[in-house]
Amino acid sequence: MKALLLVGGKGTRLRPLTDRLPKPMVPIMGKPLLERTLHTLKQHHVDEIVLSTCYRSECIRGYFGGGSDSGLKIHYVHEDFPLGTGGAIKNSESYFQDAFFVLNADILSNINLSEMLRYHRRKKADVTIAVTWVRNPSAYGVIEYDKDGYATSFREKPEEISSHFINAGVYIFEPDVLKKIPSGKPVSVEREVFPELLREGRKIAVYQGCNYWLDIGTPEKYIQAHRDGFVGKLRIPEVSFSRRAVYSRFNSKINRTTELRGPVYLGRNVRIGNGAAIGPYVVIGDNCVIGDGCRISNSLLWNNVVVESGTKMAECIVTDDCRIANMPLCRHRIYTPDVVKEIGNKAM
Ligand code: GTP
Repeated sequence: MKALLLVGGKGTRLRPLTDRLPKPMVPIMGKPLLERTLHTLKQHHVDEIVLSTCYRSECIRGYFGGGSDSGLKIHYVHEDFPLGTGGAIKNSESYFQDAFFVLNADILSNINLSEMLRYHRRKKADVTIAVTWVRNPSAYGVIEYDKDGYATSFREKPEEISSHFINAGVYIFEPDVLKKIPSGKPVSVEREVFPELLREGRKIAVYQGCNYWLDIGTPEKYIQAHRDGFVGKLRIPEVSFSRRAVYSRFNSKINRTTELRGPVYLGRNVRIGNGAAIGPYVVIGDNCVIGDGCRISNSLLWNNVVVESGTKMAECIVTDDCRIANMPLCRHRIYTPDVVKEIGNKAM
């Protein structure tokens, strides 16, 4: 089975986290989201992946290469300019001869892909779309469907709520559907391809087997994903807080006078100084150094971050290679190397 992952978006709503990284590469407790998604696909017998890249493609290619480390065969299709979700699918057409999965690469979900494939075959559909229920669908693409489970309408970001089921960004396509998508120009699968297929009388089945779903399109959602991981609402393979409130990879040095208030995730080679208080809901990535007396809660630190002694930090995200210094209380902020430099310049 093959899968196409749409990984080329600019991720503008997730800025500045996406200033240097494409959205699918942001870390979720020690691994890029995309790596976690590939792992899930493999569990559902997908062995060949096509990554449809555009923005910052070199980060993705450099990390995954041909896929041998993950036991998958990975191909890359690059766009010189963004073709949109539908255009990206069309651009990858030559790789697909049988039904295949298409996934937005910015989502976390527990959709059972094997069951979805069985459903797609049972419904003899041209396309199957996974949907998920949300309380407020106004920011999403809403799908209405009939009693037999086939889509009847698509509405993007509706003002009037006619359905609480939204497009979850996970699809199964029969390859002949791709003939209908124009090539070489930007096309939206949600706004153009699906409504056009309906007009032509094609069968679009709606699959409802999803009880956890989150897109990490904004910093708030990115933080929410970690919250859900900490409380077990989202299952993150090999990371568990159920038995130990503190999950630690290896080789960390935590001073005995440090207070760890779980849930806390510690990466590899973390150093924490005297009298620090860490947690709850804190991720500290690989090779981070936390100075004496720091207080850190509800925050996500990526890799190679240095937090100087005495810093108090709450509800922050700190990206790779930042040094947080001389900031007595940091709250509700996103720190990237550029932001830290700007703050440093202003202080001088
Ligand atoms: P925003 O700029 O914040 O809206 O994010 P985005 O650019 O990622 O767009 P969106 O969240 O709608 O994208 C959904 C999925 O499609 C993500 O996995 C994107 O990487 C992917 N995607 C969006 N646009 C393109 C595109 O033009 N080409 C490719 N290959 N993928 C895309």
